[in-house]
Amino acid sequence: MFRLLVLAIPILLAFLFWLFIFGEGTYLGSTVVTFLYDRAASAYDRVKRLDSLSDRWHVALPLERALSKVAHPLILDVATGTGRLPLDIASGAGFAGHIIGLDLSTNMLREAQEKTRALSDAISLIRANALALPVADATCDAVTCLEGLELFPRPEEALQEMARVLRSGGVLLVSNRVDREAILLPGRAYRRDQIEGVLEGLSFSSVKVKRWQRHYDLVWAKLSGGPGE
Ligand SMILES: C[S@@+](CC[C@H](N)C(=O)[O-])C[C@H]1O[C@@H](n2cnc3c(N)ncnc32)[C@H](O)[C@@H]1O
Repeated sequence: MFRLLVLAIPILLAFLFWLFIFGEGTYLGSTVVTFLYDRAASAYDRVKRLDSLSDRWHVALPLERALSKVAHPLILDVATGTGRLPLDIASGAGFAGHIIGLDLSTNMLREAQEKTRALSDAISLIRANALALPVADATCDAVTCLEGLELFPRPEEALQEMARVLRSGGVLLVSNRVDREAILLPGRAYRRDQIEGVLEGLSFSSVKVKRWQRHYDLVWAKLSGGPGE
């Protein structure tokens, strides 16, 4: 009995670590994920140590370029967290569009609101689920989702929702978890050779996968049907 316990306790602890810390509750559903992010919100930016220079270079500038022909772009940032992307885009010189930051965690949104207060004309924050976007069909010029896809119960359903709200030719930017540990997130992270097919199956074209950080690729695509297609 004692031997069994000695064996079972580390296995149980490893399982709980995987379920709650590594997997951030994703296999227990959005309520648990949101609960964990609500608890972590005030420490998120400190722990994450976001590099705004790198974000500007890899995310904001290419997105600005991709939208350069749209005078007043509407951007939807799914799983916006503490407002990382809205802040970066809206504080760029000459941004004349609007960004909706969407998240399920009230406390993450509260942090985002604090940080983006001075840019409230350009940024709206809403509490909603990535799997049921409260946005009309074909209205967004771009949809972004950084470090969120692997937390959704059904990532493909979220991608489908993103396609629904994008206009033809609209820009999709999502991160995809690709580190060695991604194998421990079955059904949540896509293999590098898989993501293009998944997006093409959802009517995206011009899919480009770019290495970003150790953990994530950035995946760019356009919703088919824009000018010239
Ligand atoms: C790792 S954070 C990323 C935040 C931000 N995009 C960034 O890069 O800093 C993941 C965010 O996804 C949100 N989230 C998780 N599941 C969600 C869902 N089903 N719908 C909307 N947001 C969700 C969490 O509340 C959390 O704020």
